[in-house]
Amino acid sequence: MIRYLEKSGIFILETKNTHYVFGIDKAGYNRHLHWGDKCNAADYEFTEISGENSNNSMLDEYKQEITPFGSTMYRECDIKARFSDNCREISMHFENYDIDGNTLKVHFEDDYYPLQITLNYTVYEAYDIIKRSVTLKNTGTEPIVFDRIFSAEFALPSEKPYTFINTNGAWGGEFIQTDTVLDGGNLVFESHRGASNHNAAPYFIAHQNADENSGDVYFASLAYSGNFKVSANRDAYSITRISIGMNDFDFSHTVLPGESFCAPPVYCGKAEGFGEMSRNMNRFCVEQLLPKQFNDKPLPILYNSWEATGFDVNAKHQTELAKIAADMGVELFVMDDGWFGKRNNDQAGLGDWFVNPEKFPNGLDELIENVNRLGMDFGIWMEPEMVNPDSDLYRSHPDWAYHYAHRNADELRNQLVLNMTRTDVQEYIFNCLDELLGKHNIKYIKWDMNRPFSQTGAENLENPQMYSYLHTMAVYNIVDRLKARYPHVQFESCASGGGRCDLGAISHYDQVWTSDNTDGIDRMTIQKGYSLLHPIKTMRAWVTDIAGINKPCSLDFRFNIAMQGSLGIGGNLTKYSEEDLEICKKNIAFYKAIRNTVQFGDLYRILDIEKDEVLCNEYVSTDKTESVLFLAANGTRFYKKKCNLRFAGLDEAKTYRFTLDGTAYQKGGAYLMHIGIPIYVRGVDYNRAIVLKSV
Ligand code: GLA
Repeated sequence: MIRYLEKSGIFILETKNTHYVFGIDKAGYNRHLHWGDKCNAADYEFTEISGENSNNSMLDEYKQEITPFGSTMYRECDIKARFSDNCREISMHFENYDIDGNTLKVHFEDDYYPLQITLNYTVYEAYDIIKRSVTLKNTGTEPIVFDRIFSAEFALPSEKPYTFINTNGAWGGEFIQTDTVLDGGNLVFESHRGASNHNAAPYFIAHQNADENSGDVYFASLAYSGNFKVSANRDAYSITRISIGMNDFDFSHTVLPGESFCAPPVYCGKAEGFGEMSRNMNRFCVEQLLPKQFNDKPLPILYNSWEATGFDVNAKHQTELAKIAADMGVELFVMDDGWFGKRNNDQAGLGDWFVNPEKFPNGLDELIENVNRLGMDFGIWMEPEMVNPDSDLYRSHPDWAYHYAHRNADELRNQLVLNMTRTDVQEYIFNCLDELLGKHNIKYIKWDMNRPFSQTGAENLENPQMYSYLHTMAVYNIVDRLKARYPHVQFESCASGGGRCDLGAISHYDQVWTSDNTDGIDRMTIQKGYSLLHPIKTMRAWVTDIAGINKPCSLDFRFNIAMQGSLGIGGNLTKYSEEDLEICKKNIAFYKAIRNTVQFGDLYRILDIEKDEVLCNEYVSTDKTESVLFLAANGTRFYKKKCNLRFAGLDEAKTYRFTLDGTAYQKGGAYLMHIGIPIYVRGVDYNRAIVLKSV
């Protein structure tokens, strides 16, 4: 619900459990007032700030929804413009507002220049989530150049320092959580790489001693896969503010007369504990954000051939793998890299998206039909945004790759990035995919992107510094167009593993490839990080032959971890023993029985592998009639892991039945959550999955 208190000029955005409050004060400034528990609406007011002196500007103490550049506001600003006469200050005043159901638009205008600024809000009441963004409109006759356009500013309520959670990841180590106390100065999480990257995440999670179940947690996540910036600051007045949006480090955007620009949206919320935060975001993403073709359908169990065959793909070998996969219960068979152009290694072929006639002399359909006959769907790998210099595409269109005329093009993995801001490049890529999907019975595309950008010339653009945004939008647009034409095709966002896993990607792709690191032990940490603000069903997790890089772990262990997302298999099945194949069959059948609870249920992180030596995650179905609890440990010390396992998220009034280590239990939800059952976790390869069903 959205309310406007006319007399005081205050907007109240009300969700199930929170109020988000801001307004326009008598002087016309936008002022942030409150984000948190609900208060009496009539009590909200602007408090006056005193104590201004020659070095303390009162304006710098304002908490705002958006801070324009200029005046005596020396803190981080959100919007920075250059008008035609080189004036760089924005002085904005409130004009009016529109409320339409759960959407609010608050319009401001510059006092002199022809610039309209609109703050957009959408309230998703049931999820305690609010969407924010900003729209800029040039109503004049001269271009306006923007050097910074952030999507939103946030101010936190407490004067005490907050801890910020983000990630300090890398290829093979995505989503590794960092916790940084922001006492003073700036804390910045960002990407300069063109895409959202493996390193930091385009979000903030801020709290003061919160845990899974309690404590105020404030969070906001940018739905954008290009260069981003999350800039938090705690100032001399002990105010913690965060600005979030497209990165301004190599950014400039010209808004022409009559045109507008809307910055990428941010989804924010306040929750009680990290658990509630993740559950709210999970449900919100599944029900509201994910593309509608597959959001409410369980994702299939896939097999991917990459780790088994590398670039050496052909119909015979793939069919051999497919037979074993089908026999195990796999539903979707995916052929990875190597099927196109002259792709025998990573030195050639990207860009030439036609079937390699030596590897597939009878065409692709021979393999697809084999796979279909085995009762599975067929999926395929592509890396549409890239080109190898050794490719027909590059030889005929060298200018299609990002470049500077008088600089060498840096290759990474022997490849260059195509300039997707060009419409001819967009059409080429769309047509390649259109032809592939139109001609063959393909049900899934793994859309990869294996290097960051460089030499981003884009001389076709009025303003090349806008490349990251335009490139990102072009990718989204092609995926959307293909999805509209082929609604039965699933898309996965992959970027050397988890290099493009953000709410922007999730708004267009049905799933993501979380990490190339499929080590069951490392995955416990990677997947925890992913689960904080991303929907579980989008998290692809494979069981492969990487049986623990540092400490070995069994096939059952690897299944136990991979089943906590959307399960995939990626090992070299032709080398599996009969016994291994039976283990796979058993686990796949088990996953089929519980996958709805995992993919659509509520996650409770009960024990943390980093802090507790034991990982314990429980997924509870939304009607609380079923739950599946996973336990895993990779070596416990001092015999101390004898504990009472307290379940979570159950219905206190329901009775549940389950078996653990041969003991059958029948207990009430209240007992299981408040008292629990004794467990004894021991050894290096401990893993259990417990299914609770209400009686
Ligand atoms: C990337 C992906 C892998 C695989 C290879 C193929 O590294 O993350 O899963 O698809 O490319 O080249």
